[in-house]
Amino acid sequence: MYQTKIAGLGKYVPENVVTNDDLSKLMDTNDEWITERTGIKERRHIKEGDGNTTAVMGVKAAKIAIERSGISKDDIDLIVFATLSPDYYFPGCGVQVQEMLEIDTCPALDVRNQCSGFIYAVSVADQFIKTGMYKNVLVIGSENHSGGLDFTDRGRSVSVIFGDGAGAAVLTRSDHNGQGILSTHLHSEGKHALELSLKGPSTNHWVPQIIEENPQGDDIPYYPYMNGQFVFKNAIQRFSEVINEALQSNGLGVADINLLVPHQANLRISQFIQQKFKLKDEQVFNNIQKYGNTTAASIPIALTEAWEEGKVKEGDIVVLAAFGSGFTWGSAILKW
Ligand code: ACO
Repeated sequence: MYQTKIAGLGKYVPENVVTNDDLSKLMDTNDEWITERTGIKERRHIKEGDGNTTAVMGVKAAKIAIERSGISKDDIDLIVFATLSPDYYFPGCGVQVQEMLEIDTCPALDVRNQCSGFIYAVSVADQFIKTGMYKNVLVIGSENHSGGLDFTDRGRSVSVIFGDGAGAAVLTRSDHNGQGILSTHLHSEGKHALELSLKGPSTNHWVPQIIEENPQGDDIPYYPYMNGQFVFKNAIQRFSEVINEALQSNGLGVADINLLVPHQANLRISQFIQQKFKLKDEQVFNNIQKYGNTTAASIPIALTEAWEEGKVKEGDIVVLAAFGSGFTWGSAILKW
C-alpha cells in the first residue's frame, strides 16, 4: 500500500473585494451584525467581465499548485473537482479544467459534497494513490457563489456569508513512509438534506415548470435555503466528532495537533471547536474574515495560505475538517 502526500498547493480569489458596508447598500444589513454573527469582514465576488467562472478560478489555482509541485501537468493521472456551483448543470467542471490545462485524456470527475467537498475529493484521490492505480491527482475546490445569491433583504441571512474563490492541491505518491495523509474519515446524514439546500435548477425544478406553477415569478427554488441555527448546532457536534475520529484512528491526542484547518463556515463555529479542544490560537488557522465561506474552496484556500505563511513545517500533524450541506462531514489527518 502506498501513501499520499501533498506535493503542491495553490489558491486564487477574484480581485473584487466586497465589504460588509458594500452589502449594506444592497440589503438591510450592517457590519456589526455580520461581524458578530459570522466573523466575516469582507469576501471576494467575481465581477462581470473579469473572465472568472468556477472552472476558470479552479484552473488559476491549479496552475499554481502544479508549478509548486514540480510535477508536469502531463503526468496528472486524475482530476477531482469539488464544487456546488458548477459552470454548467452538466458536464462537470473537471472536464473543463482538463480542456483548459490541455491535459490529454486522463479521467476527470466532479464531487458534489458542498462544504465537505474538498475533504471528499482528497479522500477519493487518496484511495487511487494508495492502491497504486494513479500516482498524481489534481484536486480542486472552487466556487462562484455570488452569481447565485439573493442580494435582497429576503436572502440576507445566507448571502452575507458566502464568497468566491478556488484552491487546489496536487497529491502524489509519498517517497517517505509515514509522511502524507494518515487517514480520511467521511460521513453523511441525508435526512437533513433540505436544511441547507438549493432546489433549482434540477429535474424537479425546470425553469418552465417554475414559471407555470409560480405565475408571480417566485424564484425562491433558485436561491439557497439554510436553517442557520440547526446547521450551526449540527456543525459543532459533527466537527468535534470527526476531529476526534481522526486523532483516535492514529493513536494521537489533541496535543499532537500542530495545525487544525477547519472549513471556514463561520468564525463562531471555529472558535467553538478551538475552545472545546482547548487549542491555542497558533494551532487553528482561520481566514474567513477575508474571504467569507467559500464552501469546497475554503480548506484548500486556507491550507495554501497557512503554507505560504510558514505555519506548517515538515513533520507537523495537520488536521483538515469540514461540515456542510447534505449533511456531509469529514476529516483528513496528515503528517507534513
Ligand atoms: N443582517 C442583519 N440582520 C439579519 C441578517 C443580516 N444579514 N440576517 C438575518 N438577520 C436578522 C433576522 O431577520 C433575525 O431578525 P428577527 O430577530 O427580527 O427575526 C435576526 O437577525 C436573527 O436571525 P437568525 O437567523 O436567528 O440569526 P442567527 O443568530 O442564527 O445567525 C447565521 C444567522 C449567521 C446564519 C447563523 O445561524 C449561523 O452561523 N448558522 C450556521 C450556519 C453556517 O455557518 N452556515 C454556513 C454555511 S454551512 C456550512 O458551511 C457549515
